[in-house]
Amino acid sequence: MTVHFIGAGPGAPDLITVRGRDLLARCPVCLYAGSLVPAALLDHCPPGARIVDTAPLSLDEIAAEFSRATAAGHDVARLHSGDLSIWSALGEQLRRLDRLGIPYTITPGVPSFAAAAAALGRELTLPEVAQSVVLTRTSGRASAMPEGESLAAFAATRATLAIHLSIHVLDQLVAELTPHYGADCPAAIVYRASWPEQRIVRGTLATIAALAREAPMERTALILVGAALAADDFRDSALYDPGYQRRFRGRGE
Ligand SMILES: C[S@@+](CC[C@H](N)C(=O)[O-])C[C@H]1O[C@@H](n2cnc3c(N)ncnc32)[C@H](O)[C@@H]1O
Repeated sequence: MTVHFIGAGPGAPDLITVRGRDLLARCPVCLYAGSLVPAALLDHCPPGARIVDTAPLSLDEIAAEFSRATAAGHDVARLHSGDLSIWSALGEQLRRLDRLGIPYTITPGVPSFAAAAAALGRELTLPEVAQSVVLTRTSGRASAMPEGESLAAFAATRATLAIHLSIHVLDQLVAELTPHYGADCPAAIVYRASWPEQRIVRGTLATIAALAREAPMERTALILVGAALAADDFRDSALYDPGYQRRFRGRGE
């Protein structure tokens, strides 16, 4: 018996992977992580499946569900929003499963930062503008930031930032970033990327907080900051340069 962790994607039900959908369709038990997993995905579960929202459960209670299903000979589909590699509580569940001797698989999903970039119609890395994307957050009630992982430290690189779980501290964030990026640095907020209620606010570090106040957004929003969000005078990448193609592509590299 196996627990299959599945990234559910950012919200649109058709942004799950084919592998994730097929696993969902053959597991008689499905545990899903609350309101961020679209209800329409649960329609893929087989008839009569045990479907449990884990939002009100403790880790012990979730582990008990894993054990119960295993004892009954049932595979489990475990759905988390976005991808599993960031802020999914995957690590602590894997540790429990290792201790219980229950096998698992992991199927990645579309992360919310990718859905937000698609909604904005932007590439987050552009030649000579930004070649790194920092996926980060600010301290929350549940988890403090480790020492050294400060916004200021990331901002010093002027990489593109994708800031999660932080819409409630937007003013503070703008104040911390402005000295590094400059007030005219492009900034955007994508609320509920890929959901029907998706909204986009575009501005600069100088304007984004006021623009966001015009249409308040709670929780499920991503803040993006960096020159790549608006640059259009960047040079073409070498990838499609004819000289590069002759030198490297012809040799199958
Ligand atoms: C607990 S984290 C989950 C991240 C998820 N594992 C991922 O791969 O994106 C939740 C945060 O991700 C961001 N988020 C998740 N889904 C989103 C969406 N559809 N649109 C915008 N932001 C989203 C928000 O910043 C939210 O506070």
